Amino acid sequence: MALLPTTTEECQRIECYKNRVFKSKYRRQVFLFVLLIVLFSVQNGYHQDIYNSIFSDAPVQAMKNVQDLVTTSDILAFNQNQMSQANWGCSVKPFIPYSGLSKFEFNSSQFPELSVKQKTSRNRGKSISITSGEATVLEDKSISKVVVEFDLKFNNEGLQDTYWIEKEESATTGLYALTIRSDGSYIENACVTIDVTIRVPNAKSLEVLDISLSNSGIILKKGLTFEQLAVAVANGYVDFSEGITSGQTAFVVANGRVSGVIDTLSDELHVSIANGSTDIAIKNIKPLTQDTVIPLDLKTSNGRISLKVPSNFDSTFSLKSHTGRRTVESSIPQKIHRESNRRGQTSGYYGNNEHTKNSINISVSNGSIQLAYV
Ligand SMILES: *[C@@H]1O[C@H](CO)[C@@H](O)[C@H](O)[C@H]1NC(C)=O
Ligand SMILES: *[C@@H]1O[C@H](CO)[C@@H](O)[C@H](O)[C@H]1NC(C)=O
Ligand SMILES: *[C@@H]1O[C@H](CO)[C@@H](O)[C@H](O)[C@H]1NC(C)=O
Ligand SMILES: *[C@@H]1O[C@H](CO)[C@@H](O)[C@H](O)[C@H]1NC(C)=O
Repeated sequence: MALLPTTTEECQRIECYKNRVFKSKYRRQVFLFVLLIVLFSVQNGYHQDIYNSIFSDAPVQAMKNVQDLVTTSDILAFNQNQMSQANWGCSVKPFIPYSGLSKFEFNSSQFPELSVKQKTSRNRGKSISITSGEATVLEDKSISKVVVEFDLKFNNEGLQDTYWIEKEESATTGLYALTIRSDGSYIENACVTIDVTIRVPNAKSLEVLDISLSNSGIILKKGLTFEQLAVAVANGYVDFSEGITSGQTAFVVANGRVSGVIDTLSDELHVSIANGSTDIAIKNIKPLTQDTVIPLDLKTSNGRISLKVPSNFDSTFSLKSHTGRRTVESSIPQKIHRESNRRGQTSGYYGNNEHTKNSINISVSNGSIQLAYV
């Protein structure tokens, strides 16, 4: 089933997209599932606003509250511009390097917040293919400033004038923002790849990292530490398997998986995926302050979710899945108190405090859920 278009078909307007999705669904006779997704998304909705806040043309600003990203709406209403980018129609890998400025350096004492985004203009009914690239964030002790390098490649020299990278910096807020833009002009059979490398002199150099790209894998390498982290991709994946440390954290993916290890989490975590699985292990949870409440909130329409949290994390849990198995396990099984296990939902609390404010809420429309306190 297609949540996102995978061809170069013209479909800029959301109505058109919805129609197309629905038509193909009916054709494949998976009506029931679509209905489930729609119900689920309206009920638990979250994608639209996240997408708007991430991919819209609003002025760039660092995300101050992950909660801002996570509100209500409907999965089928993805930002149409991003959807039109979501295709892999390149027959030959682009090889012409972008000739504009593509390397940026800054002092993270002055700019502790970095935003890297892709905001490409709408073009009349047609879009340029962006093949999947990779964005990697890593520590490099040999440098003294943060270095962001974009590797854009084109299959057509004419694209040089279509794409550019915009820099905005604010000494007062400490935000350094880089945005890949395109003017929306259409070139027949045009194809672009975008790779990004972000090197930080110290794993803790950046307090805030806010990345959103359309077709990209995003890899966060070993030991990186953030106070706030927001990562969004339309088609791709997010990987932090070497272990990161973070405060307020949000991962949003339309199509693709989120997987990795959080060595220490000190604030809320939100994961929202339309089509793809989640596999996250959190080794330690240390609330930022005594009063910090830790909600872990994971939602997927189509895909399974596996979450591991430490066995000392007292919390309520609520697992909702319409079609898959729901399991709660622990290395200390007597700490699991199941309160309800009705159709579609398993809930209860873990630990000795039934009134704990910490919570784990996981919902999946089609897929299984595994929660383990280990
Ligand atoms: C959903 O994810 C699966 C597994 O990654 C993939 O094979 C499938 O193409 C995706 N569906 C769409 C509509 O992209
Ligand atoms: C970065 O800025 C701080 C404070 O302004 C300054 O002390 C430091 O030397 C700068 N570092 C580099 C590598 O320029
Ligand atoms: C988690 O789910 C429970 C039960 O469905 C709900 O009462 C609670 O408000 C949810 N918590 C969050 C943080 O969404
Ligand atoms: C629901 O999940 C199952 C198991 O992963 C998968 O085989 C099936 O294709 C999914 N249903 C739809 C309509 O995507």
